[in-house]
Amino acid sequence: LGITLVGFSGGQCRPGTESGPAVLTEAGLLTQLSEELGYTLHGDEQVRNFDEYQPTVTGRDATVSNSTPKFDDPDVRGMKNPRSVSAVTEQISELVYQQARQGRLALTLGGDHSIAIGTVSGVARAVRERCAADGTLPESTTPEIAVIWVDAHADINTPETSDSGNIHGMPVSFLTGLATSSEKGVFDWLRSEHILNLNKLVYIGLRDVDVGEKKILRDNKIKAFSMHDIDRYGIGKVMDMALEYIGSETPIHLSFDVDALDPMWAPSTGTPVRGGLTLREGDFICEAVAESGQCVGVDLVEVNPRLVEGGVSDTVRAGVSLVRCALGDTLL
Ligand code: ARG
Ligand code: MN
Ligand code: MN
Ligand code: MN
Repeated sequence: LGITLVGFSGGQCRPGTESGPAVLTEAGLLTQLSEELGYTLHGDEQVRNFDEYQPTVTGRDATVSNSTPKFDDPDVRGMKNPRSVSAVTEQISELVYQQARQGRLALTLGGDHSIAIGTVSGVARAVRERCAADGTLPESTTPEIAVIWVDAHADINTPETSDSGNIHGMPVSFLTGLATSSEKGVFDWLRSEHILNLNKLVYIGLRDVDVGEKKILRDNKIKAFSMHDIDRYGIGKVMDMALEYIGSETPIHLSFDVDALDPMWAPSTGTPVRGGLTLREGDFICEAVAESGQCVGVDLVEVNPRLVEGGVSDTVRAGVSLVRCALGDTLL
């Protein structure tokens, strides 16, 4: 297991998301993975403070920001903190790639969801490379990964469709090449080996999708199971359909935004939306991905322990449970 602990909040405006990995590890998550689930842990033991890259920005309350700006980072095409998010995700991409290329399942604890620009691109690159090298993966494995994006939101805004300018609402558009940037230092590091194919993307849990995003989902025929579909078919059937769509030869990266869960289970998150997954439905998604045997990467993002209304401990316990399930913990 290759662990990356990403303390970063620059993809959105609410301080606290950078402490997600700390509260999850303090709750004993990593100890449980090694002692109860039997994993050998590689990679980070300490949380990386990527908010050092965080400049003072519009929308962020400077008095609660605990870090010193390293460089000026004015908006680009409406994106907030474009250079710092780009620099941080470039480093994450390399770190996650280094774990995944050795055949380790890459587990990343965030941080806001912008960090998935790093995690997904790093895993995608490692799998492409391992597929090209002889004998490191079964012959039939596809060089392109699939991503299961579990979220209340689609996070597929382009800089132009985004109302907020928060990059945590845009990672999928950069990862799929729907959005590109020619601005120096703003996602100019993304190469073809990092890119996710639009037909290898599956959403689960959607219920707050912006108008521009709906058009993107329709125009590109992107596979999406909304809360409506979960109500109609049940989570068991939805996971069958999702895994069938992906196929059994394609490595899977699971990117789980804790706001996919109903705020009843996970209130401590920056953009909660009512009407979400139960804790059991969330765990089931993770269990089904683990059971597929195809899982190569897992992200858990958007835990914000500074948002205390409703109770932080529930959100942390939910997060620990989701990760355990994704890593193959079974009831019996
Ligand atoms: N769609 C909204 C936006 O673009 C909300 C995105 C929320 N994203 C998240 N990772 N929680 O700003
Ligand atoms: Mn979300
Ligand atoms: Mn919205
Ligand atoms: Mn998200």
